Amino acid sequence: MVDNKNLAIGIFDSGMGGISVLAQAIKLMPNERYIYFGDSKNAPYGIKSPEAVRELCIYICDFFIEKGVKAIVVACNTATSAAIRDLRDRYDIPIIGMEPALKPATELESKGKIVVMATDMTLKEKKFSALMNKYGKEKDIVRLPCPKLVELIESGIVEGEAIEKSVKECFDGIDIDKVASIVLGCTHYIFLKDSIRAFAGDKVQIIDGNEGTARHLKDVLRNKKLLKNIEEDEIQLYIYNSKKDNEIIELSKKLLTFSLEKLEF
Ligand code: DGL
Repeated sequence: MVDNKNLAIGIFDSGMGGISVLAQAIKLMPNERYIYFGDSKNAPYGIKSPEAVRELCIYICDFFIEKGVKAIVVACNTATSAAIRDLRDRYDIPIIGMEPALKPATELESKGKIVVMATDMTLKEKKFSALMNKYGKEKDIVRLPCPKLVELIESGIVEGEAIEKSVKECFDGIDIDKVASIVLGCTHYIFLKDSIRAFAGDKVQIIDGNEGTARHLKDVLRNKKLLKNIEEDEIQLYIYNSKKDNEIIELSKKLLTFSLEKLEF
């Protein structure tokens, strides 16, 4: 009989973004097995219709179920906004989603604008309106979609002049001195934390939901008695991508190493 504890955790995103979530999960649960699926062929999701994104999510989750997973992480704020309810209705394993970390940003003492960097879809969907109603009512919140950044990351660029220029362009019209915090509401943007920090300066808080998501995943697995209890010598990971070429797998590995190096163990 298959012991569900030893099944893998499926993690997916429209492309490379979810690799930053995978890194957090590996940091917290190094003994687990992981299957990562990047849908780079169909990226970016943020400019598609919610219906189209839902269909893509179902296709990926069916693939995970076929492989045999004990939980799925939708490591994409956009896909979560579009599809999380349908996915939870369809599959009877834990499905963990992501949303922009608005709550911690509104709890900060510092006064000023809260800039939420996320895709257009995330910012327009019901889930974000509900978050705004709950936490954002009396706050000065700026919605900032930055699709160009996703494109650069998908082509493997996460640092340097092109990123610096695009980050600056994204913030065009926003007085950075009036910003208290920046919420990274798209998993792709996590790779750019240092560049965004360099642009925004040390006074601005930069907040993301990756660590919280990994912790939530661990709590859910623990509560369901699904945490793996066998120690591994090396990371157990399979990477798949809808763009069927080796370059994209190499890029995924490169970004995973980049992310793991930035996380303190
Ligand atoms: N990584 C995705 C997110 O967290 C979005 C990127 C895309 O537009 O595909 O929302």
